[in-house]
Amino acid sequence: MVCFRLFPVPGSGLVLVCLVLGALRSYALELTLQDSGKATCLYAKWQMTFRVHYETTNKTYKTQTISDLGTVTYNGSICGDDQSGPRIAVQFRSGFSWIANFTKAASTYSIDSISFSYNTSDNVTFPDAKDKGMHTVYHPLGIEIPLNELFRCNSLSTLENNDVVQQYWDVHVQAFVQNGTVSKNEFLCDKDKTSTVVPTIHTTVPSPTTTPTPKEKPEAGTYSVNNGNGTCLLATMGLQLNITQDKVASVINVNPNTTHSTGSCQSHTALLRLNSSTIKYLDFVFAVKNENRFYLKEVNVSVNLVNGSVFSIANNNLSYWDAPLGSSYMCNKEQTVSVSGAFQINTFDLRVQPFNVIEGKYSTAEECSADSDLNFLIPVTVGVALGFLIIVVFISYMIGRRKSRTGYQSV
Ligand SMILES: *[C@@H]1O[C@H](CO)[C@@H](O)[C@H](O)[C@H]1NC(C)=O
Ligand SMILES: *[C@@H]1O[C@H](CO)[C@@H](O)[C@H](O)[C@H]1NC(C)=O
Ligand SMILES: *[C@@H]1O[C@H](CO)[C@@H](O)[C@H](O)[C@H]1NC(C)=O
Ligand SMILES: *[C@@H]1O[C@H](CO)[C@@H](O)[C@H](O)[C@H]1NC(C)=O
Ligand SMILES: *[C@@H]1O[C@H](CO)[C@@H](O)[C@H](O)[C@H]1NC(C)=O
Ligand SMILES: *[C@@H]1O[C@H](CO)[C@@H](O)[C@H](O)[C@H]1NC(C)=O
Ligand SMILES: *[C@@H]1O[C@H](CO)[C@@H](O)[C@H](O)[C@H]1NC(C)=O
Ligand SMILES: *[C@@H]1O[C@H](CO)[C@@H](O)[C@H](O)[C@H]1NC(C)=O
Ligand SMILES: *[C@@H]1O[C@H](CO)[C@@H](O)[C@H](O)[C@H]1NC(C)=O
Ligand SMILES: *[C@@H]1O[C@H](CO)[C@@H](O)[C@H](O)[C@H]1NC(C)=O
Ligand SMILES: *[C@@H]1O[C@H](CO)[C@@H](O)[C@H](O)[C@H]1NC(C)=O
Ligand SMILES: *[C@@H]1O[C@H](CO)[C@@H](O)[C@H](O)[C@H]1NC(C)=O
Repeated sequence: MVCFRLFPVPGSGLVLVCLVLGALRSYALELTLQDSGKATCLYAKWQMTFRVHYETTNKTYKTQTISDLGTVTYNGSICGDDQSGPRIAVQFRSGFSWIANFTKAASTYSIDSISFSYNTSDNVTFPDAKDKGMHTVYHPLGIEIPLNELFRCNSLSTLENNDVVQQYWDVHVQAFVQNGTVSKNEFLCDKDKTSTVVPTIHTTVPSPTTTPTPKEKPEAGTYSVNNGNGTCLLATMGLQLNITQDKVASVINVNPNTTHSTGSCQSHTALLRLNSSTIKYLDFVFAVKNENRFYLKEVNVSVNLVNGSVFSIANNNLSYWDAPLGSSYMCNKEQTVSVSGAFQINTFDLRVQPFNVIEGKYSTAEECSADSDLNFLIPVTVGVALGFLIIVVFISYMIGRRKSRTGYQSV
C-alpha cells in the first residue's frame, strides 16, 4: 500500500491518496481516496481497455488497442469539496488520461460522466497519425446509485463512439463513502442482475480478490418459431450457459426478456435460434428418428465473452430431450446438456415441442426420469390430502347435524 500526499485543497485540508496496487503488472486498477481526517471517502476497483481508431497520413485507418495500461498514476483524484464533486483521474502510458466524476443528490449519488483523452502526437502508439494532438471523448452517464451502497458491475460495459471503444468490467466503486467504511451493500448494474457472469480476467496472475458470483436459477422464458402457418415450435425453459476456459468456468444466465428467438420448421428437422447482446447465436437443432420420436441433435453456439473475445462451439451428435412425435418433452428438474468439455447448458423447468404443434399449444408431455420422483410424490400427497378432507367433511357433518337438531328443538 503506497500512500502519498497530494496537494492542498482549499477548505478540506490535505488530501491523502492511497494506492492499493495489488501488482503493477495486473490490469486491475484499485484506488482508495482518503479525506483530510484520513477517513476513506472513495473506493474504486475496475478493469478497462480502449480501442482507438485513427486516420493515417496515407488516408487509411488504423486501430490501436490499449489493454496493458502500464504504470498508472492517479494525480488529480479528489474526494470532492464545496466547489467540485469527487473525481477519479488516471494517467497511463504516454499522454493518456481518464477521468470519472461523481455528483450527489438527496438519497443517491451518480457516476456523472467519463472522459478519455489520448495524444496522437505519440508516434510510437499512433504511428503515421494524420491529426496529431490531444483528442478527448466524453460520455455523460448519469448512473444513479443509492447512497452508502457499492456499485458493482462484473459484466462487460462498453462506451463507444466513432473513434474510441471503451470496455469496462469487474467494476466496484463507491463515492461519498460514509463514516470511512466502504459499504457491504452492493448495487448491481442491470447486466449483473440478469446474467450471473464470472468475469474472465486476463491478468497474468489470477486475482485473489475475484469473488465468485452466486449462481441463481435462471428465469424460464417461452420461445416459439412461426412458419407462416402459426406456431410450429414451442420451447419453455430457463437456460444457464457454462463456459469453461483455462480451467475457469463462466456461468451466464439467459435473460428471456432480452433474448430473441427465430428458427425454422421442416418435417424432419427443426431449428430454434436464440440471440441477445451477449449471445450471438444459440442454435438448438431437433431431428426425427425412426419416424416416431424426436430429439435434440445439435447445438451450435457463439457467445461474446466479457474480455471481448468470442467463444464458439458446435456439436451435431447429441441425443437429449427424446420423446414421441406428437407430444412434448418436459423436465422440471435441472438437467445438463453437455455440448463439449468446455461448454454445457443447464436447463430448468424445460418443456419443448419441436414438431406437430397444434394451435400454438403444447401436446401431452413425456416427462424426464428425474421428474418421476416428483410424480411418485404426487399420489402420496393427494392421498394424504384426500384422507384429511374426508375427516374434515365428516366432522363438519357431525357438528352440522347436532346444530340443526338443537335448532329444531328450540323452535
Ligand atoms: C503525478 O504525481 C507524481 C508524484 O506526486 C509526479 O511525480 C508525477 O510527475 C505526476 N504525474 C503527472 C502525469 O502529473
Ligand atoms: C465532469 O467532468 C466533465 C468534463 O470532464 C465536466 O464537463 C462536467 O461538468 C463534470 N461534472 C461535474 C458534476 O463536475
Ligand atoms: C502530445 O505528445 C507530443 C509528443 O510526444 C508532445 O510534444 C505534446 O506536448 C503532447 N501534448 C500534450 C497536450 O500533452
Ligand atoms: C517520432 O517523432 C520523432 C520526432 O517527434 C522522430 O524523431 C521519430 O523518428 C519519430 N518516430 C517514428 C517511429 O516515426
Ligand atoms: C455514521 O455515523 C453516524 C454517527 O455515528 C451514524 O448516525 C450513522 O448511522 C452512520 N452511518 C452509517 C452509514 O454507518
Ligand atoms: C422480465 O420481465 C418481467 C416482467 O416485466 C420481470 O418481472 C422480470 O423480473 C424480468 N426478468 C429479468 C431477468 O429481468
Ligand atoms: C400452411 O398450411 C397449408 C394447409 O395446411 C399448407 O398447404 C402449406 O404448405 C402450409 N405452409 C407452410 C409454410 O407450412
Ligand atoms: C460448469 O462446468 C464446470 C466444468 O465442466 C463444472 O465443474 C461446474 O460445476 C459447472 N458449473 C455449473 C454451475 O454447472
Ligand atoms: C437477434 O438477431 C436479429 C436478426 O438476426 C436482430 O434483428 C436482433 O436485434 C437480435 N437481437 C438481439 C437481442 O441481439
Ligand atoms: C479472453 O479469455 C479467454 C479465456 O480466458 C482467453 O482464451 C482469450 O484469449 C481472452 N481473449 C482476449 C482478447 O483477451
Ligand atoms: C454454426 O452456426 C454458424 C453460423 O450460423 C455456421 O456458420 C456454422 O457452420 C455452424 N456450425 C455447425 C457445426 O453447424
Ligand atoms: C456420435 O456419438 C456416438 C455415441 O454418443 C458415438 O458412438 C459416435 O461415434 C459419434 N459420432 C461422431 C461422428 O462423433
